[in-house]
Order: sequence, then structure tokens, then C-alpha cells
Amino acid sequence: MGSNDELNKTRKGFSRRGFIRGVGISGGALGTGLLEPEQAEAQQPKNVAGPAAVAITLNVNGKPMKATVEPRETLLDTLRNHLDLTAAKRVCDRGTCGACTVTMNGKVVYSCTVLAIDAQGKQIQTLEGVAQSDAVVQAFVDHDAQQCGYCTPGFVMAARGFLAKTPNPSYDDVKNGLGGNLCRCGTYVGVRKAVLQAAKARGGRNA
Ligand code: FES
Ligand code: FES
Repeated sequence: MGSNDELNKTRKGFSRRGFIRGVGISGGALGTGLLEPEQAEAQQPKNVAGPAAVAITLNVNGKPMKATVEPRETLLDTLRNHLDLTAAKRVCDRGTCGACTVTMNGKVVYSCTVLAIDAQGKQIQTLEGVAQSDAVVQAFVDHDAQQCGYCTPGFVMAARGFLAKTPNPSYDDVKNGLGGNLCRCGTYVGVRKAVLQAAKARGGRNA
């Protein structure tokens, strides 16, 4: 028994020390002989944080506007953070609420789902480019179609795009046509009445 205990102790001691020694040796080899710090650095992947910012020009509200943005940046963030156009709001930032609505070549888009670099060469319109005398703007005022107002710029842009395609809508047409815009304050009835008034004021024109 005694000799077996001795043997086990020796085996355990040997293997533990041997293991530690082995790790020490290989660790030392890695740190010195096999991969020098400069080599290790050279092997690091480049641009791990993505491509650098690029200069772009956007046509917004009829004017060319320059910005330097990372290719991953959305049109919404570029408008708000680089071009000082803050009417479009950042709410869900994932294409579900409509607070960021603008038009691009006359088409209603969620600007949080468009890359700024892809918006080059397109005619972008934000609420800042819409006249105060616009029939939709006036109708929103007349019907008090906002409470906190956070969703309102998106609704106005969506309503203008909707009326351009549906100049003589019914109440249900408006309800469905603006279904992509959400209002947390629940101003839907006022918004729909405003859009119907605007359609009348525009005389059924789609422009
Ligand atoms: S912020 Fe773009 S859809 Fe909500
Ligand atoms: S008025 Fe407040 S979210 Fe629509």
C-alpha cells in the first residue's frame, strides 16, 4: 500500500509539474520565437471597424448638400446629424413607425431604411422643403392633427405622397394608405380628416 501511495503521489506530482512546465515552455516560445509582436500586428485583419467615411452629395429639397459619412450610415442619420435637417424623426430606426418618412424621387420612403450613399442622385424631399402654405400642412393645422407632434412630419410627407397617387380618396383609402405611419398619441382621426380636407383643397389634383 505504502509503495502504491508513493507511486501515485509521484505520478500526480510529475504530471502536474510536467504540464505546468510544458505550458510555460510553449507559452514562452509563442511569445518570443514564433510570432514577434510586429508580425502579430501585421496579421491582424485591416479595417475591422468597417470602411472609412466617404464624401457624398445628396440633393435635398432641391439643393445639393455635401456630407462625409460612413457607408453604413442611413439617410435619416445623415439628414439629422450632418445636414441639420431634423424634421424626419428617429423613433424605431427599423422601418416600422414611419416617423422618418421622406420622399425620394416622389416616392414615400422610410429614411431609416435607406443608406445615404444609395440616396445619391435622387431627389429627396423632407418636411423642411414643403411650403407652410401647402394644402396638407394647412389641413393638419386646421384639424389639430397632432399632439406631441413627433410623428407629424412623417405623416405630412406620407400624406403628400399618398395624395399624389390617390387624389380623390375615401376615408378608408386614407386609413389604409397611411397605415405605415404610427402615432403614439392616437391622432389618427384628425390626421385622416386633414388628408380628406387637403384632397378637396387640391381639387383632386395629384400634384
Ligand atoms: S424611424 Fe424609420 S420607420 Fe421608424
Ligand atoms: S402626435 Fe404624438 S406621436 Fe403622433
